Amino acid sequence: MIQVVVTESYDASCAYVADMICKLVNEKPACKLGLATGGTPVPMYKKLIEANQAGKVDFSAVRTVNLDEYCGIPGTHDQSYRYFMNTNLFDHINIDKANTYVAQGMGDPAANAAELEAKVYEGGVADLQLLGIGNNGHIAFNEASDTLHATAHIEHLTESTINANARFFARKEDVPTTAITMGMGDILAAKCVVLIATGLAKTEAIRGLVMSDEITTHNPSTMLKMHPNAVVVIDKELAEAVGYKG
Ligand code: F6R
Repeated sequence: MIQVVVTESYDASCAYVADMICKLVNEKPACKLGLATGGTPVPMYKKLIEANQAGKVDFSAVRTVNLDEYCGIPGTHDQSYRYFMNTNLFDHINIDKANTYVAQGMGDPAANAAELEAKVYEGGVADLQLLGIGNNGHIAFNEASDTLHATAHIEHLTESTINANARFFARKEDVPTTAITMGMGDILAAKCVVLIATGLAKTEAIRGLVMSDEITTHNPSTMLKMHPNAVVVIDKELAEAVGYKG
């Protein structure tokens, strides 16, 4: 069941989600967070940094697991998701990096997928899983397709995703074509799932998610409709484009 929250602006969406996370960490200091990368959560992570630096939230006992990582680039590469998490969040808050996990993009893909799968469940599932959404409805790197995977696996990125992510790389040819990702079952296992979306490029994906009860592998986000506690946070610009009236 999806709860849709419509905010005044993208900034307000980020504030809403940052508040949810701070509240959770304050209630349960040793909670487990599932985290996402991409452009969308960056301002939300800035708000978590501000709250931490202002002494309003303490991440010292928090554990985190990230959704995904590119294959073929090391964690030191400036486009790796490990590097992204360090520079956009972990380096600026009082989290113990030993308690943070981002899958390995280098080495044996099957062993890396097995390790990610184990981390999803180690010490219990995530109390909150943060998500963005791809223009094609992907969540993590579970791409729109005839079939989806339940568990952690290696995914071939679609042309749509490679094009969307090319903005972060010097050349489109540099975008990795495969990634390691949590599967749909791993995401649905979290106690609470919170998806933030903004921008008109997400209109079709969000329409499929909030305007009907249909579920399709061609918009993987629609599987969140089966989750008992899923929250979708969109700003009014996107809500209007989708035709969502509440
Ligand atoms: C990132 C991830 C992806 C992104 C999605 C949206 O860890 O799993 O599913 O959330 O591609 O990316 P942005 O936010 O850049 O539009």
